[in-house]
Amino acid sequence: MADSEVLQHFSTRADEYGRTSSWVTDDAITSATLSLMKVRPGQSILDAGCGTASVLVSALKRFEGVGRCVALDAASKMLDRIEDPRITGCVGDICAMPLPDGLFDVAVCRQVLHYVASINSAFYELKRVLRTHGALVIGQIVPFDDEDADYWFRIVRLRQPVRKHCITVNDLLKAMLDTSFNVARVCEVRGRESLRSWFNRYPPTVAAAQEIRQLFKEAPTSFKETRNIEVVGDDILFENCWTFIRGVKTGE
Ligand SMILES: C[S@@+](CC[C@H](N)C(=O)[O-])C[C@H]1O[C@@H](n2cnc3c(N)ncnc32)[C@H](O)[C@@H]1O
Repeated sequence: MADSEVLQHFSTRADEYGRTSSWVTDDAITSATLSLMKVRPGQSILDAGCGTASVLVSALKRFEGVGRCVALDAASKMLDRIEDPRITGCVGDICAMPLPDGLFDVAVCRQVLHYVASINSAFYELKRVLRTHGALVIGQIVPFDDEDADYWFRIVRLRQPVRKHCITVNDLLKAMLDTSFNVARVCEVRGRESLRSWFNRYPPTVAAAQEIRQLFKEAPTSFKETRNIEVVGDDILFENCWTFIRGVKTGE
């Protein structure tokens, strides 16, 4: 079962999820996700940790003749928001999915792995439900580099204490290799984010909000430059690094 705090966190945000978020419907991020998925006619897709299944909705618009589409999430309230009858909702934990082996041609998992009990268990499960030569597409916000990582993780943990892991590109590549996926493609997309919008989506405590603002203002120069930080009135704008990885399930 998914962690109860994570479940509560997303259940209480399900009504608003995706309506106010800058990235869920961002064209560049959607386009990167879909370009790595490359779904062919008749192929089936699993969206694991789907939220409101925005990836599947976009995939059904972009690709012709998509086969079975399953949207899995730990929070049933997220699945309640899905309106497209071609998408089947499934409540479950990505680390122990109530789905048979080898059912899917493509599995996608975007911005989920930092909440799961074990990243490797999630990868093993994603591999189990894929057919041999099926594709796994991971999309994840990661630090830009090692120098950026510690400071960035301090900020995001304050913003969202339910996070379990601070995931880097190397962690994702290692998990892919540990679970015998062939890494077929890696790409990076920069997304612009606003602190005001962040706080609106996930209101932190007053103390945490103050601390986060302070961390941005007093950040090392390298952090400010890497993230292209800009103070606009009472808002702070900064960049996020998205990484997208396509892995292919081997026969092993
Ligand atoms: C940040 S949202 C991302 C939603 C979606 N992938 C997207 O790109 O819009 C994270 C989602 O992962 C789900 N989640 C968190 N832990 C999970 C777990 N162990 N198993 C399944 N879903 C989980 C949450 O309920 C939430 O809907």
